[in-house]
Amino acid sequence: MRRLFLLFTIISFTLFNCNKKPEIGLITDKAMVVSAREEASKIGVEILKKGGNAFDAMAATELALAVAYPYAGNIGGGGFMVYRKNNGEIGALDYREKAPLAATKDMYLDSLGNVIKGKSTIGAMAVGVPGTVAGVFETHKRFGTLPMEEIIQPVINLALKGVIVTQKQQERLEKHAPNFRKANLETILLDNNWKKGDTIKYNALAATLTRIKEHGRDEFYKGETAKVLAEFIQNNGGIITVEDLAKYEAKWRTPVIFNYDDLKIISMAPPSSGGVCLAEIMNAIEPYDLDKYGHNSLKSIQVITEAERRAYADRSHFLGDPDFVEIPLNTLISKEYATSNMNNFSFEKPTSSSTISHGNVSFSESNETTHYSIVDQFGNAVSVTTTINGAYGSKLYCPELGFFLNNEMDDFSSKPGTPNMFGLIGAEANKIEPQKRMLSSMTPTIVEKDGKLFMVVGTPGGSTIITSVLQTILNVHEYNMGMQEAVNQPRFHHQWLPDNIKMEPKGFSKEVKGQLKVLGYVLDETNSPVIGKVDAILVLPDGKLEGGADHRGDDTAVGF
Ligand code: GLY
Repeated sequence: MRRLFLLFTIISFTLFNCNKKPEIGLITDKAMVVSAREEASKIGVEILKKGGNAFDAMAATELALAVAYPYAGNIGGGGFMVYRKNNGEIGALDYREKAPLAATKDMYLDSLGNVIKGKSTIGAMAVGVPGTVAGVFETHKRFGTLPMEEIIQPVINLALKGVIVTQKQQERLEKHAPNFRKANLETILLDNNWKKGDTIKYNALAATLTRIKEHGRDEFYKGETAKVLAEFIQNNGGIITVEDLAKYEAKWRTPVIFNYDDLKIISMAPPSSGGVCLAEIMNAIEPYDLDKYGHNSLKSIQVITEAERRAYADRSHFLGDPDFVEIPLNTLISKEYATSNMNNFSFEKPTSSSTISHGNVSFSESNETTHYSIVDQFGNAVSVTTTINGAYGSKLYCPELGFFLNNEMDDFSSKPGTPNMFGLIGAEANKIEPQKRMLSSMTPTIVEKDGKLFMVVGTPGGSTIITSVLQTILNVHEYNMGMQEAVNQPRFHHQWLPDNIKMEPKGFSKEVKGQLKVLGYVLDETNSPVIGKVDAILVLPDGKLEGGADHRGDDTAVGF
């Protein structure tokens, strides 16, 4: 009997621990890549092992995600990179999509001025001019060390060999198949009823990547690929031309930099709202004793929520493409502005979003996207978030070229005051104009402590990106968690409108939720089974690296 009891105890213990997420991530001595798929992380690390640096690995990982993770990885979309070199030099690259030359402010409105449902999200009209290939080549041109052919070849090999379908991928394909049919019948992802364990080969994408390997960046923007792409988009009712592709350029930007306690945060500048909103929120919460209140305690959630509410109100009003609109950036990210914003905050009750507008200074987006973090053996760090906006973008797949096209045009405000697919309300600053970049929430971020590299962090999640990055940094800095533990924690999110706190279900104590409701907060636990999929790297006190790969996806850290 005692033996049976012992056996039962061992089996229960083992089962319990199998289901538990590990609290400590991969630890390596020198280098690491954390991304949404093991295949992509491995290819990035392979490049590092050949002697390449973080920028070579960026090019390899970005392209490998286009093969291994077509849900969000892409060459038909765009992204942002924030970097910190081992000598402390920092910078950012903007390879965000652009509105085509023929785009107009009212292109998604009917004759009565109402938004035409689906026009900015599904099909060829939703597509912005892709920036990813330009971003990869621009990064490599400035900082790469290995020949580009050597970087692209393993990605081509992966596409030809094929990628194994995971359980999560199978579920995503089942969910989105009806939408593929709406946009375009021919996608390799519809060819079979793909199940976990099947191998999908991406031959058309391999051929496109081979041409890019042979002819370089211009193959995508001025060569055969550009011609096929423009013709395909137009045949499907879109407006992107060969001229649009030929004019596309990635742009170097100055990142947003601010301090929080003894941390220096380096994040993405406009046209992403990520860095500005992160700065506004962190400046607003800095004076409060979050560590004393406790992780996900009533008071911590209140302070963070109220700071988020105020920052997102500003996001909607002030932010857009800096090449088109004047942004009072220095004011928005100043400590004084944050203090004045929190003047009317009280622990007694929520501030109603209807009483908050944008701040008085003189003078929207999808749930999917993907992020990867890289630290190389030389101490360089790269934080990249890349996207085709919605899951599988516009669902428009070019069979000849082998990739999905973005639906990034939905990140513009189609009609100022009307929410986009993330419920984000946009304003004039983000209205559609030819050649303009749409506002983003992507927040690739690097954190320094005592003048040294401390953390590389980012996530997908549309409007929840900023708040997921915030909570991950706070989990490490305020609540003393390791990287994986910080990534594992349940997350919440407030974005001014709608006036509710989205929460991951099951993650928060009944007591805290009850107290929030008594105070008058509205909680939404039904619409966000998952908030963010954070992939991050922490430099430990002994100089080793700890990866935080989010178990909400198939995300994996690989390193040496
Ligand atoms: N499309 C998601 C973002 O740019 O934030």
